[in-house]
Amino acid sequence: MIDFRSDTVTKPTAAMRAAISQAEVGDDVYGDDPSVNYLEEMAADMFGYDNALFTSSGTQANLLALMAHCERGDEYLCGQQAHNYKFEGGGAAVLGSIQPQPLTNQADGSILLSDIEAAIKPDDIHFARTRLLSLENTIGGKVVPQEYLASAQALAFERGLKIHLDGARVANAAVAQNIPMTEITQYFDSVSICLSKGLCAPVGSILLGDERLITKARRWRKVLGGGMRQAGILASAATLALTEQVERLAEDHDNAAYLAAELARIEGFEVDMSQVQTNMVFAAVCDKIDTKALALELKAKGILLSPGKTIRFVTHADISRADITCFISELKGLLVRG
Ligand SMILES: Cc1ncc(COP(=O)(O)O)c(C=O)c1O
Repeated sequence: MIDFRSDTVTKPTAAMRAAISQAEVGDDVYGDDPSVNYLEEMAADMFGYDNALFTSSGTQANLLALMAHCERGDEYLCGQQAHNYKFEGGGAAVLGSIQPQPLTNQADGSILLSDIEAAIKPDDIHFARTRLLSLENTIGGKVVPQEYLASAQALAFERGLKIHLDGARVANAAVAQNIPMTEITQYFDSVSICLSKGLCAPVGSILLGDERLITKARRWRKVLGGGMRQAGILASAATLALTEQVERLAEDHDNAAYLAAELARIEGFEVDMSQVQTNMVFAAVCDKIDTKALALELKAKGILLSPGKTIRFVTHADISRADITCFISELKGLLVRG
């Protein structure tokens, strides 16, 4: 299958499968799993945080960050398009009694500082207490500018807010800018990073923060049923995601640029090339093309995509340049036949 639906579909590499088979394990709820401890210590060191926590998913890492920064009746500011607002089942409100205050995302993925300022509530019994600013990078495949991150951090600091990064794809953001990931994460009190997307681990994310935050998050992880036992099986592969898979993302970015250029040449498909910055391509499809029927026909040829007026294509380790060429040729063939 050539699967464009997401980079979450990546299979573990051969080195990951070997590491899994040899992983030393223990009961991680007792703190006894050497492979989990190694991953958490390595990640904390690598990014310059006190501590790190291995979580079962990106959703869980974000939720734990929100619940560790905020108390019942607090609120967090985030983008309307933020994954931890729009696509995580309202977990912060449902499970944390934390109110989201979503704000408009600009075309580059940022949120206007003036919008953030205006949304910070005064200390008044009528309002939720504004505690946290949550940003995402990459967001919709776009890299949020470094200068923006610096000014958002300065504003958060000035207004007494903590600042969290949903860095599910922070490695993509770093590779696209040719900078170390720490250049991005330096602006944040906490960061969640998905190891199971472009970085190919089968399962898991990491949450970075200070001692107090990670201790609190570890407690909430247990409460939410996320205390895993011999999780070293997963952590051994997740470690390789951070040590061996980051630079490879450049290939996915090149492939996305190639795919975007090819799609843009096809009648009925429109791609805003300025938005193609990492491993995602959004193609607006004209009304005459029935994307549901198209997706079904492509599926029969071993190609998977999510239909819609705008189709999101995601490139990843299990999609080669040849796969893209094959897809474009099949697509053209199907469109000609109508
Ligand atoms: C930006 C972003 N954050 C968080 C997540 C959640 O990750 P998970 O699917 O591991 O819960 C995703 C998942 O696609 C994501 O794209």
